[in-house]
Amino acid sequence: MRLAVLCALLLAGPLAAQDLTGHGGPVSALAAAGSVVVSGGFDGRTILWNAPGASALRIERFHEGNVTAVALTGDGGFVSAGQDGRIALWQAGAAAPLWATPAEVAPVSALAVGPGQVAAGFVDGRIARIDLATGTMQTQPAHDGRVAGVAYLADGTLASVGGDLRFARWDDTGRLLARTGLPDLPNGLTPAGEALAIPFAEGALRLLSPQGQVLRERYLTETPLVAVAAGDGVVAAAAVDGAIWLLDLPTLTPRAELPGGAGPVWALALTGETLFAAGARGVIRRLSAQDGAALGAATAALSDPLDDGSRGAQVWRACAVCHSLDPGDHSRAGPSLHGLFGRRIASVAGYDFSPELRAMDIVWTPQTVAELFEVGPEAYTPGSRMPDQRVGDPADRQALIEYLVRFAP
Ligand code: HEC
Repeated sequence: MRLAVLCALLLAGPLAAQDLTGHGGPVSALAAAGSVVVSGGFDGRTILWNAPGASALRIERFHEGNVTAVALTGDGGFVSAGQDGRIALWQAGAAAPLWATPAEVAPVSALAVGPGQVAAGFVDGRIARIDLATGTMQTQPAHDGRVAGVAYLADGTLASVGGDLRFARWDDTGRLLARTGLPDLPNGLTPAGEALAIPFAEGALRLLSPQGQVLRERYLTETPLVAVAAGDGVVAAAAVDGAIWLLDLPTLTPRAELPGGAGPVWALALTGETLFAAGARGVIRRLSAQDGAALGAATAALSDPLDDGSRGAQVWRACAVCHSLDPGDHSRAGPSLHGLFGRRIASVAGYDFSPELRAMDIVWTPQTVAELFEVGPEAYTPGSRMPDQRVGDPADRQALIEYLVRFAP
């Protein structure tokens, strides 16, 4: 099986696109533009990806609890928001956030970047408008219930939908411009051409005018739709059972339907010809926006670690989402660990290590790798981009090292 998959990959050539693997659990939030993707996970990580290379450009572990929403700022930066109610702006090249809002009592449920502003919706129905340059935040009550989505329209006004089954539109000072009722519970909101696309709990996808009038609706399923993304002439929606639809804009004529069954798809993002679908097991799938064809399925199979049935193979699973054991395969968030023992830290060619690691004087041996996961990367290799984690049980550590000695010689 593994051999067949490897052969298929070799035949497809070295340029075969790959799925994005690096989250240590289900992915909860996604945004994409051009060649970058930003994702948030239930593992508390926000990852910025170079999409063509499927490599992580940076990994941030800032939020307490899961990352509930992410957005790109268009200049290489991104915004992350969490269950902790905090919102942070990350700029290209800067190690720390430019600003971060203080912890709020309610988790953030929606996020959008507009002209000079970030808008956030909270599960308690409030909306915040935050100045992109300064981080100054103004909040106001907006919905009676969870804010399910916020989106900026072309004229700079802000649209929102909430658990109160209402659509609202606001000017840049927070003044209410329009409010209408919705036929059902909304689960998201995204600009879609001239209109706004909303996935609903009863399984319908609707297009609304900027005034909140339903322009078109399409019943797709009897399961709740939980994610939406729109691109040039196309909109995608996903249901809680993982089924995905691609539809033409503005007609909502279905182009492709992908069956579910492998767990929920919590987030979608569209850029150019590619649809990214955030699923369980930490994998962000790469699909064709034309027909839904899997573009990176080979990697999902490859990310299964070499399993010899040992305890070490089990412990390694947590590492395999970020590290390959194939020589020179640095396509995951971390470097390939092939040939680890006896090598100096951050010395393998072809992986962009952090300067902190390059400056260290450690040689990887069974002893030092065990120490790394006894105290955790934060203490053992301060400044490492590897998320802090420990293998607390000495027997598990030993099993992991023995596994690495067998498979990463
Ligand atoms: C979420 C992703 C992620 C997970 C999970 C992860 N790592 Fe890492 N790891 C990284 C990244 C990123 C780096 C490079 C850090 C840097 O450059 O600052 C790294 C670096 C390393 C290094 C140093 C490599 C070198 O060549 O110097 C070792 C060893 C390592 N990881 C082992 C492990 C093991 C063992 C596990 C599982 C217990 C694990 N990692 C889990 C992301 C991860």
